[in-house]
Amino acid sequence: MADQISILGIAGSLRKDSYNKSAVRAAQQLCPDGAKIEIYDLAGLPLFNQDEEKNPTPKVTDFKQKIRAAHDILISTAEYNYGMPGVLKNAIDCASRPYGDSAWNGKPIAIMSAAMGTAGGLRAQYQLRQCFVFLNLEAVVQPEVAIAAAHQRFDDKGNLTDETSKKMIAQLLQNLIYKVRLMRQPVKAAA
Ligand SMILES: Cc1cc2nc3c(=O)[nH]c(=O)nc-3n(C[C@H](O)[C@H](O)[C@H](O)COP(=O)(O)O)c2cc1C
Repeated sequence: MADQISILGIAGSLRKDSYNKSAVRAAQQLCPDGAKIEIYDLAGLPLFNQDEEKNPTPKVTDFKQKIRAAHDILISTAEYNYGMPGVLKNAIDCASRPYGDSAWNGKPIAIMSAAMGTAGGLRAQYQLRQCFVFLNLEAVVQPEVAIAAAHQRFDDKGNLTDETSKKMIAQLLQNLIYKVRLMRQPVKAAA
C-alpha cells in the first residue's frame, strides 16, 4: 500500500526471552491498519569504535538503511541499573555516525519500556529521551508506556497479558502515526 506507514521496532535487550522483545511483538499485533512494524534485532552490531566509523560493518550499514527506510521508529528499552542497557546506547551511537551522516535525524520515534522493577524502566526512557535532543529525533512521549513487574505481565510464551499495557501501546502507536502523517502534510505558504 503506497500510503502504508512503516515502523522499525527495536528492543533494547539481546536476551532471547526478553520482555522488551515481547513488548515490540505485542506492538506489532496492536498496530493499527495502515501501519506495519518490522522488528530489527540489534544482535551482531559491533561495539562502536570511532577509529572505524568510516568503515562500517555490513550490520551497521544495514541498520542505518533500515532506520532511513522506515517512516518512524519504536523502541522498547530494558532498564539496567537505572539506565538504558549498553547494547541500546551502542546501537544509537553506531547509527549516529560519522558526524553529519546520522540515520536518526528528524525521525519520529516512540519509546516504551518493560522492566521487573516498579518503575517499569522509566529511568531508562528518560535517559533515552536525553539522547534524542542532540539526535534531532521527534519524540512521541505520551502515553508513557512503562510495563512494571514485567515478569507478571507476559505469559510463558511471551504474550502480553496485561490489558492496560495493551491499550496504552495501541494509543502510543496511534499518536506516533498521527505525528508521521502531520509531518508529511505539505506546508502551506502564508497568505
Ligand atoms: C545488569 C542488570 C541491571 C538491572 N537493573 C534494573 C533496574 O535498574 N531496574 C529494573 O526495573 N530492573 C533491572 N534489572 C532487571 C530487568 O528488569 C530484567 O532483567 C528484565 O528482564 C530485562 O529486560 P528484558 O527482559 O527485555 O531483557 C536489571 C537486570 C540486569 C541484568
